[in-house]
Amino acid sequence: MRTIEWRDGVVVTIDQTKLPTQEVYVELKTCEDVAYAIKEMKVRGAPLIGVAAAMGLALTAFRSKARSRQDLMKELEASAKLLRETRPTAVNLFWSIDRVLKKAREVEGDVEEVKRLVVEEAKRMADEDVEVNRRIGRNGLKLIRDGYTVLTHCNAGGLATVGYGTALGVIRAAFEAGRKIKVIATETRPKLQGARLTSYELIRDGIPVTLITDSMAGYAMKRGMVDIVIVGADRIVKDAVINKIGTYTIAVLAKENDVPFYVAAPLSTMDLSRKASEVEIEERDPKEVLFFGPVRIAPEGVNVWNPAFDVTPMEYVKGIITEVGVLSPDELESKLNAG
Ligand code: MRU
Repeated sequence: MRTIEWRDGVVVTIDQTKLPTQEVYVELKTCEDVAYAIKEMKVRGAPLIGVAAAMGLALTAFRSKARSRQDLMKELEASAKLLRETRPTAVNLFWSIDRVLKKAREVEGDVEEVKRLVVEEAKRMADEDVEVNRRIGRNGLKLIRDGYTVLTHCNAGGLATVGYGTALGVIRAAFEAGRKIKVIATETRPKLQGARLTSYELIRDGIPVTLITDSMAGYAMKRGMVDIVIVGADRIVKDAVINKIGTYTIAVLAKENDVPFYVAAPLSTMDLSRKASEVEIEERDPKEVLFFGPVRIAPEGVNVWNPAFDVTPMEYVKGIITEVGVLSPDELESKLNAG
């Protein structure tokens, strides 16, 4: 199944905190359930967070007893506020909430019609996400030659999206096209999305994958083991790519070792009116660093800093693989503004 689905007024998604050892599907019945699932990272990855938020609003509309459009809008605005407070960095969350609210405000019809169309919009966004990822995959295909080893960080796969993935979408497209490729996945401390999720997805697809710890990436590139780096993004701003903590380190080491560094992301991840300095980088619970699973690994009293994302300046980015083509950082603004 897809990572998230609307089933007769219930949102069904896989609980990513349980992977890879357990495949548990959870039913989200209210917008509060969705907000909690995003906050706890049962649902994660920028595009998936966006679609989940749209489905959260759809649940509010679906369950609403509002008799007027005005009352329904108040309920949707309250749900939007709750969703906006879950995670601050991935722009897809805000993009998606704005899109659904705009739809609700602008459509013609009575309150029941608005409720129906909000649900339709959320379902459409889920379908679009898979289609967009497939296009990203096709566009990125030309960058991957036969025999290549691709290094990726975190999880920008089917699990981070509704299906297929962005960075892993490119890898999947290359594999499906018959290229003999290999993947190196970094474990991605502290939440281990690379170890738990990327390797799980690739193994299921039969794509050869080697897991390394984050600090091994530089040495792997130095040894000539990596032909290209492809990562996802949580927000692409005017001057930088914001993605999972550790991305910047990999980008700098890629440049140092002449390995091309690409970012695969949909247009819904672009926030080109902002600079990186204007974006809030989420800082998460120190416990994520202090504990490895249930085991405490550092002494009482130690200070912890736990930013979930970092900022990679555009000078390190060779290109951005989008659904409209592979764009250089210079082309990004002009191409996108041109429509
Ligand atoms: O904290 P997460 O797991 O939500 O972070 C995910 C990432 O950083 C991904 O690389 C990004 O969202 C792109 S997913 C297609």
